Amino acid sequence: MNILLVGSGGREHALAWKIKQSPLLTRLVCAPGNPGMAMLAETRDIKTTEVARLVQLAQEIAADLVVIGPEVAIEAGLADALEAAAISCFGPSAAAGRLESSKAFTKAFCDRHHLPTSSYSICDDAPAAKAALAHFEPPYVVKADGLAAGKGVVIATDRAAAEAAIDDAFSGNFGAAGARVVIEEFLEGEIGSLFALCDGKHSMLFGWAQDHKRAFDGDEGPNTGGMGTYSPAPVFTYDLVEQTRKRLVEPAFKGIAADGAPYRGVLFVELMATRHGPKLIEFNARFGDPECQVLMLRLESDLVPYLVACATGRLHEMPEPVWRDDDAVCVVLATEGYPGPAKAGSVIGGLDQDFGEGVVVFHAGTSAGPDGAVLAGAGRALNVCAAGTDLAEARERAYGAVARIDWPQGFHRTDIGWRALAR
Ligand code: AMP
Ligand code: GLY
Repeated sequence: MNILLVGSGGREHALAWKIKQSPLLTRLVCAPGNPGMAMLAETRDIKTTEVARLVQLAQEIAADLVVIGPEVAIEAGLADALEAAAISCFGPSAAAGRLESSKAFTKAFCDRHHLPTSSYSICDDAPAAKAALAHFEPPYVVKADGLAAGKGVVIATDRAAAEAAIDDAFSGNFGAAGARVVIEEFLEGEIGSLFALCDGKHSMLFGWAQDHKRAFDGDEGPNTGGMGTYSPAPVFTYDLVEQTRKRLVEPAFKGIAADGAPYRGVLFVELMATRHGPKLIEFNARFGDPECQVLMLRLESDLVPYLVACATGRLHEMPEPVWRDDDAVCVVLATEGYPGPAKAGSVIGGLDQDFGEGVVVFHAGTSAGPDGAVLAGAGRALNVCAAGTDLAEARERAYGAVARIDWPQGFHRTDIGWRALAR
């Protein structure tokens, strides 16, 4: 098979790494890819939102399947354009992708189809949003509507901080994503990321993990796109998984199909495990980043048949995926300053070495510099991942590798997996 993989982050590097192991693969092309992916596959310099050029590339390489990594390509309608060109695609249409691209849409969807989530208020201007705070208790959850790469959320401990976050959102800091603000009830509990595949009709759970959204150790600091993950995560008891399937996953796929936009691809359910069961924090129309990295390390089954089955409506013919008994950990290395402004272009050294058993390093935001140097972007740059027989071993291996990377301008959390170890 010829496969075109769209994206350039750690998630896509992990997907490329796993796809590359498939005996079904003939040729893998990544657009735009990154220096890590370039070591595994061909890359083409086309942006993830250049829909027409991506369709053209898929035709050029006679792609049997296009795999869409990031949400921006989904929102740009890449799946729709590929369908019009009769090319099989893993990734939902823009209409189905609204489960991620608009928080306001998702909240109304949850009301319509009775999915458990926090109560909320959608506000079109700052005075309305500030007035809405009166209906909520602290801590206040203030979110920019639309896609903000996981950074458009502020949890404010008091009213003044909430009002500042509202002003910030409407000041244009999140671009178009801040034109509307959602105020939400704060959910108490432990967060979890659960994944499910759907082919438009049939669905199947596809793993779970826990992410660490705050920038610094001890879950301090601002929200990020995710600073590290581990899987399996003990928060996902049998009960929580089954309740999530029944109350969130199945109603979501049924609801979006009933709304006229059958879902093809992976749905990422970010949930809070509350005293009253799972409640939706948000849906994403793609794999989590960096959740995907630990899932790929643990996935024993060939990934490609699952991607194809989603694209072609044959998921019911697939067996449940097989996961390795191993634990896997991913530690994100980001440029100092992230998720705020950070300086791109620092040199990451020490990548050219064998990091030892179980370790895989994915590139998340890097570029190629002169003389084969690897340069960091302004955000999350590397994902140092490791598998081990238990979480402690996986962590030891991952942090051992982190210590051997030479990058003074980078930072990382040192406590990935702490909730599992604290149990
Ligand atoms: P989001 O970008 O919506 O995934 O939110 C980022 C992070 O903020 C989540 O991973 C949660 O840790 C936290 N969060 C978001 N919404 C809520 C909520 N309603 N209650 C408590 N925490 C939340
Ligand atoms: N790690 C969370 C996300 O991909 O949004």
